[in-house]
Amino acid sequence: MGLKDWIEAPATAVVPATRSKLNWLRGATARLTTPLLPDDYLHLANPLWSARELRGRIVDVRSETSDSATIVIKPGWGFDFDYAPGQYVGIGLHIDGRWHWRSYSLTSPPNWDDKRISIAVKAMPEGFLSAHLVNGVPSGTIVRLATPSGNFALPDPPPERILFLTAGSGVTPIMAMLRTLSRRGRRPDVLHVHSARTESEVMFGDELKALADDHPEFRSHIQLTRSQGKFALSSLDELCPDWRERTTWACGPLPMLDEIERRWQDEGITDKLNLERFAVSRADTSGKGGTVTFEKSGKTVTVDGATTLLEAGEGAGALMPFGCRMGICQTCVVPVLSGHAIDLRNGKEHAEGDRVQTCVSAAAGDCTLDA
Ligand SMILES: Cc1cc2nc3c(=O)[nH]c(=O)nc-3n(C[C@H](O)[C@H](O)[C@H](O)COP(=O)(O)OP(=O)(O)OC[C@H]3O[C@@H](n4cnc5c(N)ncnc54)[C@H](O)[C@@H]3O)c2cc1C
Ligand code: FES
Repeated sequence: MGLKDWIEAPATAVVPATRSKLNWLRGATARLTTPLLPDDYLHLANPLWSARELRGRIVDVRSETSDSATIVIKPGWGFDFDYAPGQYVGIGLHIDGRWHWRSYSLTSPPNWDDKRISIAVKAMPEGFLSAHLVNGVPSGTIVRLATPSGNFALPDPPPERILFLTAGSGVTPIMAMLRTLSRRGRRPDVLHVHSARTESEVMFGDELKALADDHPEFRSHIQLTRSQGKFALSSLDELCPDWRERTTWACGPLPMLDEIERRWQDEGITDKLNLERFAVSRADTSGKGGTVTFEKSGKTVTVDGATTLLEAGEGAGALMPFGCRMGICQTCVVPVLSGHAIDLRNGKEHAEGDRVQTCVSAAAGDCTLDA
């Protein structure tokens, strides 16, 4: 490798090779300062500076409902603010001695004021990181960030007629889209149907109402399911007679998205449908668990059959690349060197020589990964 290639190569797997000049600079800094000025020196000067990884500082935690909060983050050096509205970001928090990573849709429009980003988190019952983010994380906490990504994104220019179907925390990527449209002064014809159990559980309820009051081309239909029942897709014909012609973005619980997908399939209009799933549908199966060896990083850990290989590696300190963490993007694929792994979505077993998606696979007995 020549000097130019060496400087231009990505500093680490979480830093994309092809992005901005800033990333070029980060890669160069990581190499030119090692070992004379390691990353720790940058960290001492300012915890947001790192040549090896994207970092951010939580600057505000604002309650949205009793079990959800908006978290505002000021990213450090190298973060690309030119993401598309609807994309998600990976967030890593250091708790009890290990890094915990999850994906969250950005709720801030791209290039938001003061170079900040925001996410909105709903605390899941028994959810580890979501509960911590909503109820426990103090302002000032330093987090790790992964580059924004995902195809659930609003194009620029947007389509002229749009339908948003959301429920619960599924409203979050749509908030980024609505805020972006509002900031850019775009006026497409938008119907947003959002479901929540009660009025007090509607995330961004006041903002949605204000948007509808201020913009006649934006209609907001809030379905309170405890008193009004589930939103029936059949009622779209009355509420929005041209729904079949609208470009649709849908995000919410898996059964809701499955129903929407079937309906759009039946109508032969799946080319108009964009879906975002926050969780993986798991088959009624799990691995046997076992001892997982990460060959390249020299780490070993014993895990149960429900822990994904990606989580196992993160727990053991064997960090592997990842993107969506739900079996879509293929960023997390690594070869199995020996033993077996199982795909938690469908129970398919992988053996030596196969490449597994570590975010949706678990150990089926002892196994060794090329990671
Ligand atoms: C692309 C993407 C974008 C996301 N955006 C958001 C967002 O904007 N806001 C938000 O609140 N969450 C979002 N999520 C979900 C988020 O990443 C976490 O999964 C969620 O916060 C739960 O994490 P946890 O650590 O609390 O739960 P864990 O401790 O990891 O899991 C607790 C239990 O809940 C189950 N579980 C975990 N997540 C879900 C889920 N989403 N639905 C159903 N069951 C689940 C687990 O299987 C487990 O049994 C997104 C996920 C993805 C993949
Ligand atoms: S992280 Fe996207 S497929 Fe595994």
